[in-house]
Amino acid sequence: MLSRQLSRRGVLLPLLLCASASRALSVSDISSSSSIKPFSIDTLTTPAVIIDKDTIEANVKRMLARSSSYNCILRPHVKTHKTIPGALLQTSNRRSTITVSTLREAEFFLEAGFTDILYAVPIDPSKIIRAAKMARHVHVTVDNIQQVAALINHGAPAPGERWSVVVMVDSGYGRDGVVPSDVEALELARAIDAAECMELFMLYTHAGHSYDVPYGDVEAIVKISEQERDAVVEFKKILKENNVDVENVKTGVGSTPTCSHPPQHLSGVDEMHPGNYFTYDYNQHLIGSCDVEDIACKVLTRVVGHYPKTNKLQIDCGWTGTSAQGKEHNYGCIEGHSELIIENLKQEAGTVTTGDGSAIDFERFPVGTILKILPWHSCASIHQHRKLHVVDGNDMVVDSWDCADGW
Ligand SMILES: Cc1ncc(COP(=O)(O)O)c(C=O)c1O
Repeated sequence: MLSRQLSRRGVLLPLLLCASASRALSVSDISSSSSIKPFSIDTLTTPAVIIDKDTIEANVKRMLARSSSYNCILRPHVKTHKTIPGALLQTSNRRSTITVSTLREAEFFLEAGFTDILYAVPIDPSKIIRAAKMARHVHVTVDNIQQVAALINHGAPAPGERWSVVVMVDSGYGRDGVVPSDVEALELARAIDAAECMELFMLYTHAGHSYDVPYGDVEAIVKISEQERDAVVEFKKILKENNVDVENVKTGVGSTPTCSHPPQHLSGVDEMHPGNYFTYDYNQHLIGSCDVEDIACKVLTRVVGHYPKTNKLQIDCGWTGTSAQGKEHNYGCIEGHSELIIENLKQEAGTVTTGDGSAIDFERFPVGTILKILPWHSCASIHQHRKLHVVDGNDMVVDSWDCADGW
């Protein structure tokens, strides 16, 4: 049922998206800001996450235009922010065609009226009953015959319904997915094709290894984006040659590095599903996906102590405030203070010193001073919080968005 609706959308959406890319929404179009009286970030309890309104609008607009220029539907991953207004911005107000990474996210967006939600983590048997309740609007992912057997064992999600199944394809990441040339990949697709209670919806790949290239090696990223394309297009060809019905089966590719540096063409690819581009982060900047000015997400922290003997400041943000990721890269950087580095994060506190060992000018950082961390990995930093505060160019909070919570 889901895929029949989607084939119709498949015709309409590129047209809609072409139109929407040129007039991407602004935060004020979709947010509840009319009910919020703007207030200064100075009144926020730290740590807190702010996202810059103009920057996310620009990031979203750029990716919508890019996907449209490649004749692809943008099915944004929403796990970076997990908010309804954020997803509406990414889709240009279309309450459909998104990617999620937890069942809780699927429920959260479904409750808000979203449909055509792709749950992009291979499903395990313990989650099937919960997924069945959403199966009219949520595609489930498999990469192993055991998952298919568990879905068949459960049977149709509801009378008259079928599971809409996505096959995860490994385009070189090596985390999950089938390798197109492996006989197991063909067997998996045949099993889905043959099962009464399911239909094959998409061949999906995410090149997580695009994060591992040497910083700034854009050519290497373009090569990986070609691998993504070739993996799903090749797999579809193999399936067709082996009489699997792929007439209506879609193909999808994407990570933020590869969608920032796509190949010359994406012919044979229907969808792109990057997510991190919504805010970017310091890692993406070093990878070469964005300029530092495109980083929309900042973790606010306050100076809570001065320690001249050890040349350290203490801040009220630990790994619970910005995650422990990127320790070897000082967890990101501190905006406007390139001389400072975050040396270490404990649970609720962190220490800041200078990168070159020079003395901190403590007078510049009275206790209570707000520092803005450009986080190493925005998805991980935002995940530590329940609310995102949207700020304008004057550091005034103009809206606060609730994040989906839990798994
Ligand atoms: C399966 C899957 N799809 C899409 C994405 C989005 O990629 P990115 O965060 O690089 O935009 C991710 C990110 O981890 C992912 O795991």
